[in-house]
Amino acid sequence: MDASDTLQSSFEALAEMALAINSIREPERVLEQVLTIAMEALEAERGFILLQSDSHPDGFEIESWRNFTRDQLGDVQRLSKSVVYKVLQTGEPVVLYEALKDDGYGGTESIIIQQIQSIACVPLRLKEQQIGAIYLDSLHKRGRFTREALPFLTAFANQAAVAIENARLYQAMRDENRRLRHEIQRIHGFGEIIGQSPRMREVFDLMARVTDSDASVLILGESGTGKELVARAIHYNGPRKDQPFVAVFCGSLPDELLESELFGHKKGAFTGATADKKGLFEVADGGTVFLDEVGDLSPRMQTVLLRVLQEGEIKRVGDHVTRKVDVRVISATNKSLKEMIEAGEFREDLYYRLDTITIELPPLRQRRGDVALLAHHFLDRYAVKSRSHIRGFEPEAMQALQAYAWPGNVRELEKTIERAVVLARGDLITRADLRLPETNALHPMEHGLTLKEMERRFVLQALEDHGGNISETARSLDVSRRWLHYKLKEWETATS
Ligand SMILES: Nc1ncnc2c1ncn2[C@@H]1O[C@H](COP(=O)(O)OP(=O)(O)OP(=O)(O)O)[C@@H](O)[C@H]1O
Ligand SMILES: [Mg+2]
Repeated sequence: MDASDTLQSSFEALAEMALAINSIREPERVLEQVLTIAMEALEAERGFILLQSDSHPDGFEIESWRNFTRDQLGDVQRLSKSVVYKVLQTGEPVVLYEALKDDGYGGTESIIIQQIQSIACVPLRLKEQQIGAIYLDSLHKRGRFTREALPFLTAFANQAAVAIENARLYQAMRDENRRLRHEIQRIHGFGEIIGQSPRMREVFDLMARVTDSDASVLILGESGTGKELVARAIHYNGPRKDQPFVAVFCGSLPDELLESELFGHKKGAFTGATADKKGLFEVADGGTVFLDEVGDLSPRMQTVLLRVLQEGEIKRVGDHVTRKVDVRVISATNKSLKEMIEAGEFREDLYYRLDTITIELPPLRQRRGDVALLAHHFLDRYAVKSRSHIRGFEPEAMQALQAYAWPGNVRELEKTIERAVVLARGDLITRADLRLPETNALHPMEHGLTLKEMERRFVLQALEDHGGNISETARSLDVSRRWLHYKLKEWETATS
C-alpha cells in the first residue's frame, strides 16, 4: 500500500465515522461511540472522554470511559491531570510514554504510573474553544501511539466535537420542548387532560365555563376518550373540590342493588340488609355524583333518578323518611341517548335534567394532531415510573402511531405506550415495540372494489378523520375544496 492509498483509506474511515456519530442523537451514546472508534483506531486498551463542566471544581468532568474500574479512573484522572491540562490549554494533542515517571510520584501512584506504557490525549475542539478531550492509554506496549496517528486522531476529534455538540443541542431542544408542552398544559388549567387540537380546545373552553356552576353536565364520547377524566377535572377545578367526588357505575347491577347503592337502605329492607346504610348520593353530599354509563339505567331506575333530581331529596330503600341532598350531577355515556329516546328506551325528561350542558369528546382518530402529544405524555409517565432510560420514539414509530385508527382511543394509546416501555431495549421506542395490529389501515386491495368506489371510501375516511372539516380534509388529500364539494354532492345524489 503506498502513501496515497493510506491517505485514501484514512479519509474513508473518517467519513464513515462522521456519518456514524452524526446519526446518533443521544449525547451519552455519541460519547460511547466516539471513544470506541478512537480506541480501535489507535489500538488503545483503555480510554475516557472528559467534557467541560461548570459545576465541577476542575472545570472538567469524565463523561464516558472504557475498561477502567472506578478506582483506577480516579487515580489515572489525578495522575493524568497535567497531561490533560496541557492539552486543554494548548489545544494541541499529546503523545507520550514513560513521561509521567519524572513527576516524582511514590507508593501506589508510582505503581499505577509504571503500568501505563503510552498515553495519547487529543482536544475536542469546537471552533476556537476546547470543549473537552479524549484520553487513551496502553498498559502493554511502550510507544504504541505514534506521532503519525496524530493528524488522523485530530481530524477525528474535530468531527467528534461537532457531533457531541449537536447531540447536546438536540437534547436541550427536546427538554425545552417538553417544558413548553407542560407549560401549555398548565395554562389551560386541566393539567392531566392532554390535547391541543381545535376539538380539544373547544372541550377545555366548555369545561372552564361549567366548572364554577352547578349545572348538570352530560359527557358523550366513545369508550376510552376520557369521559371520567373530564368529569373529575370539572369537579376538582370547581367550588365543590373539597367535598367528595363519587363515581357510580350504572351498568350491570340489578335494579334493587343499584337503588340501595345509590340511595342507601334501612336495616331489614331486604335479606342481607343487616344494618342501616348510606347511599352514594348521601356520601357525596356537598360534592359531585358521577353517573357513569347512564344510558344503561333501566326504565324503573330512570324514573327513580328523575324524582330524586327533581326533588333534591332521597329516600333510603325500605325507609319512609326523605333526606335533602345537595349534589351536582355529571353523567357520561357512549350510547346515543337521542336515539334511545326515539326508540322509547330513555326518558326524555330525565335526559333534559342531565343535559344542561353537553360535552362531546372527539375520538382520537379525529384529532390525530394530539397523538404525538399524548404519546410523549404517557412515555414520560411510564418511563419515570419504571425508571427506564427511554427518551423518545423513532420517527417510524411515531409515524405508525399517527397512522393507526385507535378504535380504543386514548386508553388504547396509553396501554400501547405502557407496554412499549416494558418491551423497548434501546433508548428510543421502535415501531416493533408498539405491537400495533396491522389490520386497521385502509385496505385498498379489498376484493371487487372499483377505482371509483375506492376513491369514495378513501375520501369519506379522510373526511371522518378530520371530523367532517372540509378545508382540512382537502388539504390532507391535496385536492381543492371545490373538488371535494363536487365529489360529495355527486355521491349524495348517487345514493339518494
Ligand atoms: N385527553 C387525555 N389526556 C390524558 N389522558 C387521557 C386523556 N383522555 C383519556 N385519558 C386516559 O385514558 C384512559 C381512559 O380514560 P377514561 O377512563 O376517562 O375514558 P372513558 O371515556 O371514561 O372510557 P369508558 O367509556 O371506556 O369508560 C385513562 O387512563 C385516562 O387517564
Ligand atoms: Mg369511563
